[in-house]
Amino acid sequence: MTTGEAALRLLLPADADGAAEVHGAAFDEPWSAGELAAMLAMPTTFGLASAQGARLLGFVLVRDSGAEAEVLTVAVVPADRRRGIARALVEGACGLARQRGATVLFLEVAEDNAPARALYAACGFAPLSRRPGYYRRRDARGRIVGVVDALVLERRLASA
Ligand SMILES: CC(C)(COP(=O)(O)OP(=O)(O)OC[C@H]1O[C@@H](n2cnc3c(N)ncnc32)[C@H](O)[C@@H]1OP(=O)(O)O)[C@@H](O)C(=O)NCCC(=O)NCCS
Repeated sequence: MTTGEAALRLLLPADADGAAEVHGAAFDEPWSAGELAAMLAMPTTFGLASAQGARLLGFVLVRDSGAEAEVLTVAVVPADRRRGIARALVEGACGLARQRGATVLFLEVAEDNAPARALYAACGFAPLSRRPGYYRRRDARGRIVGVVDALVLERRLASA
């Protein structure tokens, strides 16, 4: 675990390498630094980082269009989980999305991802629908061994 305070700030295209490292430690199908930089360069995408000095501990990426916003991903490095970092990132993302004009924030979560489901429930997201067989699951050698449903969740954002 990292000691000292983690600070919340905007995620910048210059953070792409660090964000790719965090993402790679969190997901079976990691996003490259190039993909993340391209997303961050789009006007409809914004992100927040939790950082300690130059080191990224976690980040959230959101896309918005008009009144609707969507969490694209959120991840925290394994050594710094259960410190409230993801909760701060998601709450911060809700605030920013609202400032940018969104009235609702959606996300998808794998049905078998208990930590993420607990996080979103703690942040006030409610179930909206189910997408059967939405995610692939791989074994240690990368072979697809099954599929998992996605749950679509939403959180209404109070008007600015
Ligand atoms: C899901 C994830 C982002 C949570 O990050 P985190 O910084 O550890 O979460 P927080 O410390 O902010 O947790 C906030 C609340 O979420 C819930 N929660 C988070 N992780 C949990 C876990 N492993 N088990 C049970 N509840 C959990 C708890 O209610 C927690 O509050 P508490 O610690 O006061 O009980 C992190 O586990 C992660 O990066 N996982 C891999 C990537 C991923 O699955 N992302 C989500 C994709 S939809």
